[in-house]
Amino acid sequence: VASLFGRNVLKETDLSPDEFRALLDLAAELKAAKRERREERRLTGRNIALLFEKTSTRTRCAFEVAAADQGASTTYLDPAGSQMGHKESIKDTARVLGRFYDGIEYRGAGHDIVETLGAWAGVPVWNGLTDDWHPTQSLCDALTMREHAGKPDAEIAFAYVGDARFNMGNSLLVMGAMLGMDVRIVAPRSLWPSDSVVAQARSYAAESGSRVTLTEDVAEGVRGVDFVHTDVWVSMGEAKEVWAERIEMLAPYQVNAELLALTGNPEVRFMHCLPAFHDLETKVGQDVHEQFGLTELEVTDDVFESEASIVFDQAENRMHTIKALLVATLAQP
Ligand code: CP
Ligand code: NVA
Repeated sequence: VASLFGRNVLKETDLSPDEFRALLDLAAELKAAKRERREERRLTGRNIALLFEKTSTRTRCAFEVAAADQGASTTYLDPAGSQMGHKESIKDTARVLGRFYDGIEYRGAGHDIVETLGAWAGVPVWNGLTDDWHPTQSLCDALTMREHAGKPDAEIAFAYVGDARFNMGNSLLVMGAMLGMDVRIVAPRSLWPSDSVVAQARSYAAESGSRVTLTEDVAEGVRGVDFVHTDVWVSMGEAKEVWAERIEMLAPYQVNAELLALTGNPEVRFMHCLPAFHDLETKVGQDVHEQFGLTELEVTDDVFESEASIVFDQAENRMHTIKALLVATLAQP
């Protein structure tokens, strides 16, 4: 993907649809190369900074393993471990790190922060999740749907069910519209993506032939889809106080066996960016159980553990797609 060399990737719209597709092809090739033990190191001697102001399992580990596979080294910085934001501005941090590193990953709340890093670092900056966008996740989700659908992108239909006015709803909507998919956002109206995100999706759809649907009606929204996606009902950084309201709003949108049956597609697959709340194994799950008596939230345990669930294939693809992003933006074409 020669045109991506040296570029920032902060949101889906930083990529053209052709570049997005080319990254998916590159990820598939890198995945096959690793499996067949013929991967070539194209990033030997490169140094990558990983800045995480919010916690992570998949994204951090995906960047670290992808970099190591390609011969690059990484430095992980959490907010407590650097001056960034406390004692030094984002702009100054960007200019310092840009002198040391060949590329910078950033995860945090405000999308403006990653935009500022991108504007000042002088090296590629990648968004590892902000409140508004999660582009490395939508790349992964597109690859995973391609692999499981066994048909062209433009013939894939998926529904995102749940809180859609945050990173995952925005990213999946715009990605699907770029790739010509039949995209359904299924959520209470107050949790739909903003008008401006919907307008961006509709403008890609006009080019790609994608069908974009926003609906509050679960049965209508999921009918005939190949994939049902969801995400947590309360995202990182949101106040504990929103739980009660969110549970009330989203209970009818829980992904359970009944919802999957409404698709009418016996081959429907379940996807989730993870982490997921589907049992009482986590502290958050236990707190919610104590307060509201619930043992499952956005997805039931039977769906999560069923044959329909491809969440771990999806998680694996975080690494292959992030590797493609690193190679495309950092390796000399
Ligand atoms: N899906 C995802 O971004 O996971 P992490 O928060 O573990 O990185
Ligand atoms: N919407 C979730 C996604 C986590 C990968 C969050 O922002 O916490």
